[in-house]
Amino acid sequence: MKFFTLLALFVVSILLVSSTLGPETSAQNGRKPQDMIVLGPEAKLGTIKFSHLDHTTKNRSIEGAQIACIECHHTAQPSSEAAKHPPLKTGWPADRTTTLTADQFEKDPAAPAVVACRDCHARADTKPKLLPELPQIKLEVGTELVTLNNQQAFHRNCAGCHDEIMKTSKDLNPPTSKKCTACHKRAAA
Ligand code: HEC
Ligand code: HEC
Ligand code: HEC
Ligand code: HEC
Repeated sequence: MKFFTLLALFVVSILLVSSTLGPETSAQNGRKPQDMIVLGPEAKLGTIKFSHLDHTTKNRSIEGAQIACIECHHTAQPSSEAAKHPPLKTGWPADRTTTLTADQFEKDPAAPAVVACRDCHARADTKPKLLPELPQIKLEVGTELVTLNNQQAFHRNCAGCHDEIMKTSKDLNPPTSKKCTACHKRAAA
């Protein structure tokens, strides 16, 4: 009799555990990044509506293919891989062994979390959340150090590609570095 009570309890607790775990596990399998992200909440020129979906599913790379996740999320790879593309050298977390891809994000909930650019590239004169200070790189020409606050980092990554695309593609017309208000838009008053 006692055995059956224990068995019943056991079965009930398994059911309880699986019903609380169930929805969470299925939400993690097949997860996708947000489609649209609003950047630059404090930018005086206005916020930037960034279509994460179009930048990852349409052929938008300089080579006319899909843009790899790590072309923007450059720390989402092992440091040894990053170092093949100087000035890059940092993987985050430092001991990571895997590279972010759409497939990894969708299927591997144990992969390191995707951290925000601004956690490292904070606004000018502020301390980033994840680093002791703002990242700096040396340019290919000269010895000048560039401090990569949010403005520098995003403009280099985003407008850097857009400027390159304008040189190579006749069909595409992305907002180039000079076209400030093609990216920054003030909300209608
Ligand atoms: C390709 C899109 C794009 C273009 C073009 C662009 N910006 Fe930006 N800008 C951004 C993004 C993205 C950020 C960073 C937003 C964030 O921190 O989330 C930014 C940040 C900034 C910041 C810092 C905002 C802050 O946090 O205080 C300033 C200032 C700025 N831009 C000015 C300009 C000016 C001036 C131009 C034209 C010469 C320009 N931007 C062109 C996308 C763009
Ligand atoms: C964990 C910290 C961290 C995160 C997150 C991060 N960066 Fe960086 N970033 C760095 C460091 C550090 C460097 C200097 C090079 C290095 O050490 O790899 C750098 C360098 C850069 C550069 C200069 C590379 C070049 O070739 O000129 C750009 C542009 C850049 N980051 C943009 C971004 C963008 C955009 C994001 C988000 C999609 C981002 N970073 C996320 C830390 C980070
Ligand atoms: C063109 C640049 C770019 C590319 C390519 C890109 N991302 Fe992002 N991603 C961003 C930016 C910018 C953010 C905004 C957050 C921030 O400030 O760092 C972001 C945010 C995210 C976030 C956090 C927000 C959320 O929805 O949970 C995830 C996760 C993410 N990206 C995954 C990916 C994956 C997976 C890929 C490859 C399939 C990818 N990204 C490709 C620029 C990019
Ligand atoms: C590797 C290349 C590349 C990178 C990196 C990149 N873009 Fe783009 N972007 C494009 C291309 C290509 C287009 C499409 C132009 C067209 O269809 O005419 C585009 C279009 C845009 C547009 C116009 C609206 C739209 O989505 O069609 C905005 C705004 C924009 N990008 C913002 C950004 C921001 C902000 C970042 C950085 C977080 C970024 N882009 C990074 C290639 C890139």
